[in-house]
Amino acid sequence: MVDSVYRTRSLGIGVSGIPDQYADGKAAKVWQHYIGGHKKRTESYREFFCNLLNDNGVKHILDVACGTGVDSIMLLENNFRVTSTDASDKMLKQAWKIRWQRRKEQAFDKWEIEEGNWLSLKDANIDVPPQGFDAVICLGNSFAHLPDFQGDLTNQKLAIQNFKDMLKPGGVLFIDHRNYDAILDTGKAPQRNLYYNSDCIESIKTSVLYVDGRESMITLDYTVDPSKASDDFTEEGEEPAAKKRKSTEGDISKFRLSYCPLRLRTFTNLLKGIFGEAARHEVFGDFEPLGQVECPAYYVHMIWKQTSEDVNGVEEH
Ligand SMILES: C[S@@+](CC[C@H](N)C(=O)[O-])C[C@H]1O[C@@H](n2cnc3c(N)ncnc32)[C@H](O)[C@@H]1O
Repeated sequence: MVDSVYRTRSLGIGVSGIPDQYADGKAAKVWQHYIGGHKKRTESYREFFCNLLNDNGVKHILDVACGTGVDSIMLLENNFRVTSTDASDKMLKQAWKIRWQRRKEQAFDKWEIEEGNWLSLKDANIDVPPQGFDAVICLGNSFAHLPDFQGDLTNQKLAIQNFKDMLKPGGVLFIDHRNYDAILDTGKAPQRNLYYNSDCIESIKTSVLYVDGRESMITLDYTVDPSKASDDFTEEGEEPAAKKRKSTEGDISKFRLSYCPLRLRTFTNLLKGIFGEAARHEVFGDFEPLGQVECPAYYVHMIWKQTSEDVNGVEEH
């Protein structure tokens, strides 16, 4: 019998044996409706990220989970240079489409987008600056997609090491995740959601899977109804208005995504294990300093790759 909880909706297999949960195209098709449109989604945190990136002298960013391109586009529009990768060609298709439509803008013309899996990131066909990128970002609760079938975080450690290898010494990784402590402790995701907040979300059902008493997987079943989009909703990269068909009730989409629920402490230890105990590390809850928001929906970690001076004359690569 098929285990309907454990099994993700899509059985597509990505390049390195990790299921591409987006391979059936269901989530990709309604992703902009799910996030409420690229522009609206980034309104709430554009300043937060752009200020932090500017404060750290960041110029060239690698977005390792660009999906349909939402955060990459926000950064391009704010004068950063961006290179983007993602494992799912179905998601990337949207990003490529927008890149093509905006190719006359210099920033978009230079926007490099390639398929790339975190477990073999160096095989992605991207130009890595000689010293490495100023920043790597992995946002939108993407990292939690990486399964931990062995229960020892082997995949997670390899992916974080690969992110670190893409950074120049002194560069910074931005990585986020849902508040899995709250989900595991209550069985439900916090209601408030700064990333995914559109009128089109009908419901999100949460299941928690334990294997031998270990919190192993969270499965979220999404129902998204594009017909609920407000009249001024514009999907970036969409057809000109004349050709656009208004979504109807029949367009309701159901998709399932699964996540590896790492608690805040575990996630912090994972990062420190790779970047070093002494690496500078900061955490934000819903884009505010930790402790200011009660039960945040998301945590964003910033962790800096140490320079040779930081590690007392030992060269970092
Ligand atoms: C929740 S979506 C978020 C996309 C985008 N950052 C956003 O916020 O809209 C997660 C993305 O992570 C990508 N992803 C999942 N596992 C991956 C892996 N092992 N390597 C590269 N990308 C992966 C998926 O293909 C998907 O596009």
